[in-house]
Amino acid sequence: MKKVFILFTLLCTTLPASAQGVSCCQKEAQGCCRKNPVIESIMTRTSVRQYQNRTLSADTIEILLRAGMAAPTARNCQPWHFVLITGKDVLEALGGRSKDAPLAIAVCGDMTKALEGEAREYWVLDCSAATENILLAAHALGLGAVWQGVYPIQQRVEQVSQLLKLPETLVPLNVIAIGYPGEAPAPKDKWKPENVTIRKGLE
Ligand SMILES: Cc1cc2nc3c(=O)[nH]c(=O)nc-3n(C[C@H](O)[C@H](O)[C@H](O)COP(=O)(O)O)c2cc1C
Repeated sequence: MKKVFILFTLLCTTLPASAQGVSCCQKEAQGCCRKNPVIESIMTRTSVRQYQNRTLSADTIEILLRAGMAAPTARNCQPWHFVLITGKDVLEALGGRSKDAPLAIAVCGDMTKALEGEAREYWVLDCSAATENILLAAHALGLGAVWQGVYPIQQRVEQVSQLLKLPETLVPLNVIAIGYPGEAPAPKDKWKPENVTIRKGLE
């Protein structure tokens, strides 16, 4: 048994991921998914596009926002602003999945807080990290959510900015529709060892 374990460990650490057939590592990784609630949550999150007709409490919404604001940002500049949308008329006007959700959050870049020069575009990455945190927090709370892209599609940026009456300093990156799930789609298996290269030394 010990020998088998050593062989598996060697295979998993010495061969490129694509050459391993990954079965042993995969099994180990799957075991880890079941044991660790954070990893489990990451691996089981999926986009949910149908919602129950049930509102979210203020406490729940605050947890989602706190999760978003806990994300890492370049030089910790936190260049974001979150617009909560609960009004049925605005949700319907936004369309897409928002029209059936009790809540949507527009994650916006705040250009007054964005870094200057070449680093300015980091706001997109910072707000994307916040968005993923919100999606994961929603999933962990038993909610369903979907990221609906806005920026960099100019027409969508203008449409959403107009509807939400955003000042020019705010750029909507996306609109996240959130609610208690009205469907239970299976998470997609995206594990592709061929997307991984192992580079161990300089040569
Ligand atoms: C930048 C971005 C834009 C997206 N835009 C939309 C969208 O407009 N409408 C939508 O239904 N889903 C949208 N999605 C969700 C993706 O379709 C979804 O994440 C992808 O199919 C993978 O599925 P999963 O989230 O269930 O893992 C977007 C996701 C990202 C990251």
